[in-house]
Amino acid sequence: MVYFRGIAPSDREALHKAFHRLSPASVRSRFFNAKFDLTSGELDFLTEVDFLKHVALVAEIDIDEQRCPVGIGRFVRGRDHPGHAEIALTVADEHQGKGVGKALLKQLIKLARELGIRHFDAMVLADNKPMSQLMLSTGLKVESSTSEGVNTISLQL
Ligand SMILES: CC(C)(COP(=O)(O)OP(=O)(O)OC[C@H]1O[C@@H](n2cnc3c(N)ncnc32)[C@H](O)[C@@H]1OP(=O)(O)O)[C@@H](O)C(=O)NCCC(=O)NCCS
Repeated sequence: MVYFRGIAPSDREALHKAFHRLSPASVRSRFFNAKFDLTSGELDFLTEVDFLKHVALVAEIDIDEQRCPVGIGRFVRGRDHPGHAEIALTVADEHQGKGVGKALLKQLIKLARELGIRHFDAMVLADNKPMSQLMLSTGLKVESSTSEGVNTISLQL
């Protein structure tokens, strides 16, 4: 069972620590290059969201009867195209491949539809099979284009 809650400014320290526990491969998949830390401005952006233009959820599971955060998913509406939102997901390495990302994406789709968002766009490195497969596994209509090794995968909600 995966539980969800909105991210809060109080998640800042935990998110920062979780970033440092990510494998280099996961950091590259999420941020497109080797990134060694998050700046204070990035931590503000990632944890202080308005749940209208920027929605971010923490995914939690029970481990030894304790509710533990294992993933974060977010979408940010396009400034000029409010019917589109860019999504990004990260699941802790040791919990990848167990359905957390799929549950998180499903929940984000539900919230986005309620906000009138019609398209989810994900920027995905061409070699990122898990994220590409995750987008395909929704069963929704998918379009994709590629530029300089980065696929833009668009889901029609
Ligand atoms: C991409 C990511 C969010 C997926 O989350 P996850 O919890 O590992 O994925 P799930 O276990 O829910 O699997 C979702 C789908 O992807 C498939 N999948 C998972 N890992 C896979 C792998 N290594 N290779 C191929 N497919 C894979 C699953 O089979 C499933 O598809 P199915 O339902 O058709 O079987 C996670 O791997 C991650 O955080 N990666 C690093 C950061 C990243 O790449 N973020 C995306 C950038 S936007």
